[in-house]
Amino acid sequence: MKETSYAQFLPPAGTDIAEKWDALFYFLLGISLISFVCIIGAAIYFLIKYRRREGVAASSIDGNHKLEFVWTLLPTILVMFIFAWGWLIYDKMISPPDSAYEVKVIGKQWLWQFQYDNGKTTINELYVPVNQPVRLLMTSDDVIHSFFVPDFRIKSDVVPGMYTAVWFEAREPGEHIVYCAEYCGTAHSKMLATVKVLSADDWAAWKAQAKGPKPASLVDYGKLLYQERGCFACHSIDGSKGIAPTLKGVWGTQENLEGGSSVLVDENYVRESIEVPDAKIVKGYANSAKMPPFKGMLTEEELNALIAFIKSLKD
Ligand code: CUA
Repeated sequence: MKETSYAQFLPPAGTDIAEKWDALFYFLLGISLISFVCIIGAAIYFLIKYRRREGVAASSIDGNHKLEFVWTLLPTILVMFIFAWGWLIYDKMISPPDSAYEVKVIGKQWLWQFQYDNGKTTINELYVPVNQPVRLLMTSDDVIHSFFVPDFRIKSDVVPGMYTAVWFEAREPGEHIVYCAEYCGTAHSKMLATVKVLSADDWAAWKAQAKGPKPASLVDYGKLLYQERGCFACHSIDGSKGIAPTLKGVWGTQENLEGGSSVLVDENYVRESIEVPDAKIVKGYANSAKMPPFKGMLTEEELNALIAFIKSLKD
């Protein structure tokens, strides 16, 4: 693992995407430097060449269509090229592969908490496997934080009441620092964590010894909550129609709503439906019995478990 030094422009790239990102960054830097030298150089040259002199009359130039065409076309081609290049990288950065291993991230004043599919929870240490895409589903317990891993070139706000996501695929075992990049109070600058990238063997060993205190998996925990909190009374998990829509197979679908619009069933929609059930009513349930709002009645950990459970009912 290379150390970050202040002698370099950018920290070492920990992912393939980070390397692509760097290439674009250096290209932009190069273009900017070349433009700077050419423009300032021309300005100084003209300043001297056309300075006011005794006996030399000033002449007036009315325009040159050919020249204007060229200086419009060339920069247009250049910026469109930069746009296309940037878009290709951005598209990769926001589209995690379906095979991605998901870890839940909860920002709190002032620590980072991580929840894994086997029910294990860690604080300020994010364990991930090498050469495998990892998606982070993030939310906050209190104020806005920002999850920033310079080595992976990923940064995203972590916002209370909703979910944001980033993903990465670390390419060698090692450690990477995580910063909070949004001022969040007194200990903001101490809100640090470490990404620990493990080899395949170490990862398997870590997962095997990492047993959560509660049920064996996040999905099982969610199922327990589904029963404990009474969700089962109205929402079936076998596809049968009840007082409320079934949870079976809804994940990832477009749900039709009263009023004619539709919504994608994802983390943010499910969370909203648990916390503020009236916000969006599924078509056909306008006259159904009302579900009580659960806002403030579930911890972030419990919401994550419930969402993992509903997600597991996909097929
Ligand atoms: Cu959390 Cu700054």
